[in-house]
Amino acid sequence: MAESIGRHGQWVHAELFDASLPARCRITLGEGDTPLERAPELGAALGVSELYLKREDRSPTGSHKARSLGLLVSDLLSRGVSQAVISSSGNAAVAAAAYCNEAGIKLLSLVSPRTPLVKLEALLRHGQLVVATDRPVELLHHCALEWGMADLRSSTNPLGPVAYRGIAAELQSALDCGAVFTFANSGATALGLHQGFARLSSAARSPSIHPVEGWPGGELTRPWYERAAEMPPSGIGDLGTRRSRLAPAVRRAVRGSGGRGWRISKVDLQRMLELTKQVRVDTSWEGLAALAAVQRWVLQPEFTAPVVVLITGSADQLDLHPASAIEELVPVVTTEIQLDRLLAGASFRRDSAAR
Ligand SMILES: Cc1ncc(COP(=O)(O)O)c(C=O)c1O
Repeated sequence: MAESIGRHGQWVHAELFDASLPARCRITLGEGDTPLERAPELGAALGVSELYLKREDRSPTGSHKARSLGLLVSDLLSRGVSQAVISSSGNAAVAAAAYCNEAGIKLLSLVSPRTPLVKLEALLRHGQLVVATDRPVELLHHCALEWGMADLRSSTNPLGPVAYRGIAAELQSALDCGAVFTFANSGATALGLHQGFARLSSAARSPSIHPVEGWPGGELTRPWYERAAEMPPSGIGDLGTRRSRLAPAVRRAVRGSGGRGWRISKVDLQRMLELTKQVRVDTSWEGLAALAAVQRWVLQPEFTAPVVVLITGSADQLDLHPASAIEELVPVVTTEIQLDRLLAGASFRRDSAAR
């Protein structure tokens, strides 16, 4: 572990994190400082004179979640926590597992039985306990209360959005950014970006922040779609939370920045997939959704360039098919009693005082 500790990776932004973690607890796998690529061909196709892609998919765990989970797990390490739980649609659990392995923390990931196979396989490679369930939130609360496991969800952990301030710092040092688009689930990324820009620059120079969801969307983007006609589901974001606790703060931050929320249809996603193939840009559905939102925003009078799109997930996640027989890959549980047996079998300790 010694090599992964210190003032490297995203810890160069430590002064933005408001978390006074001792240097020996600052775990890094080399997250942060992701490439910022100019995309002239794609920009021209979308009608944007200056389009940049912030390649968070090049993060060590394949998504921007490396930043947040890197900080959250470092915080657990500094507090001497030995076991944690996360419920996730994939990327956050993968990142949590990678950092918990570095920290020597035991992790339970609660995933949906419909989790795409590629994400499940990526998660299983880290060797921590993975359990599929249709009751992730109830079982997570059970783990926290009865087993004293720390809750690693970005939507409920106050440090959840904080590491994304580092993205704002990296963007600000590279260009005078007009707008930032990012796919949103809990809204932690959008909120962290806003916090980062607010700390770094005067409001006049902060870019507008644009969280993007797939249809039907949820609380994060509701105010912008109250009178919109229904559309068929986009098929993305289904496994995420539609009711993040962060929603009111995210909406306030987005409005304050001059941005707005977006919901992207299946048709728009398919079109964007074709377009990105033509210009040889690789991204996951989340990145495609963010690009599709840019295409809509270009038509609005408030449009300001340069535009940055966070490419939060990688193209190898385009296949959304779940495992055909998930029970062959991971245990599937419904009840607290079933889960308790698995936890005991995997040597978790019942420690309700350790929360
Ligand atoms: C690829 C990808 N993009 C964006 C998000 C949304 O991040 P947040 O939960 O911070 O809104 C997620 C997480 O669910 C994700 O996996």
